[in-house]
Amino acid sequence: MDIDALRKDTPACGDVLHANNAGASLQPRPVTEAVYEYLELEQRIGGYEAAIERADQIQSAYDDVAALIGAHPDEIAFADSATRAWQLAFNSVPFKAGDRVLTSVAEYASNYIAYLQLQERLAVDVVPIHNDETGQLSVQALADLLDESVRLVAVTHVPTNGGLVNPAEEIGALVADSDALFLLDACQSVGQLPLDVRDVKADLITATGRKYLRGPRGTGFLYVNEDALGRLHPANADLFGARWVERDSYQFRDGARRFELYESNLAGTIGLGAAARYANDLGMDSIWQRIRVLGEGLRTALADQRGITVVDQGDLRCGIVTFTMDGCEPRELVDKLRRQRINIWHSGVESTRLDMERRGLRSVVRASLHYFNTEQEVERLVEAIGAAR
Ligand SMILES: Cc1ncc(COP(=O)(O)O)c(C=O)c1O
Repeated sequence: MDIDALRKDTPACGDVLHANNAGASLQPRPVTEAVYEYLELEQRIGGYEAAIERADQIQSAYDDVAALIGAHPDEIAFADSATRAWQLAFNSVPFKAGDRVLTSVAEYASNYIAYLQLQERLAVDVVPIHNDETGQLSVQALADLLDESVRLVAVTHVPTNGGLVNPAEEIGALVADSDALFLLDACQSVGQLPLDVRDVKADLITATGRKYLRGPRGTGFLYVNEDALGRLHPANADLFGARWVERDSYQFRDGARRFELYESNLAGTIGLGAAARYANDLGMDSIWQRIRVLGEGLRTALADQRGITVVDQGDLRCGIVTFTMDGCEPRELVDKLRRQRINIWHSGVESTRLDMERRGLRSVVRASLHYFNTEQEVERLVEAIGAAR
């Protein structure tokens, strides 16, 4: 990777030290330009007319996102966030009383709120799968829990509050041998590490545009395996996702786009496609290799600092580095560093309550690195954190 060239392609690299890529990454020039250019076309010729003129470019966004995860373009639906994509998936599962949902300890709050809401309507059991001794989801515990009452296994690949990478492929292999559906929340992993649907064997995968993919805000996508389509019932189809064919009947559109609505932010779609292409051109293996090295470097350097405790878990760890610091609230540290144009973030108990409570954590500092970060930036970050006490 030519890091200098990549940083030149990311104008903000000259202004900020950005270690908040798990919050929202910095957009590279081709992404922003694709969005501007499409908006300008809408301004010039009209919104419907721009969509017709750029039908191929819009289709390419599906192709590029599909290529990123080894899917077929018809298996991709766009949404305005990962949460929206996840809700579309979750609400399409035909739950009945007595069903069980197996989930991860590191599950994201928005997903867990949906479980609680489901439980308000139906007697469905939600069971967190234990972690193993490394802190990742225990594949053995999952194997022990998987029986015919399990309708859905919904787990988070990389949580919002740490460097953990859950073993998605092993989970997928087990679930594929059962009657359950597998929904993977890949919000923090897509764009950060190679994820191939043929290896993971998930029925449903959700992701956002703005994080490691470096796309625009307000974008996300849902992957639906074509073999799973018949087992799902989209709950909110409109006249795009379904056709009103007779007075009393409708038919879903073919493919995953039955989950989409007619109206959408097409400039965002174009930007998301450009972001996926950018990642595909660089290659997910190279991206992941560099992120891992930078992440491990930061983890080691922070662990050497007095008063800092690195709290990342798991056997395999990514570019998200989390820690606590004696005598300093995470939010305070984030504010102090932001005033120096160093971007990091914090994650509190309410985002991943099961995991944080289990570990006795109220809040952690989160620094998340991308391939365009440099070793010098990692050094500067560690110094700034040390000096902020
Ligand atoms: C693990 C996980 N899932 C889902 C989401 C939600 O993503 P979005 O804000 O795009 O809805 C996040 C956001 O931080 C996350 O960390």
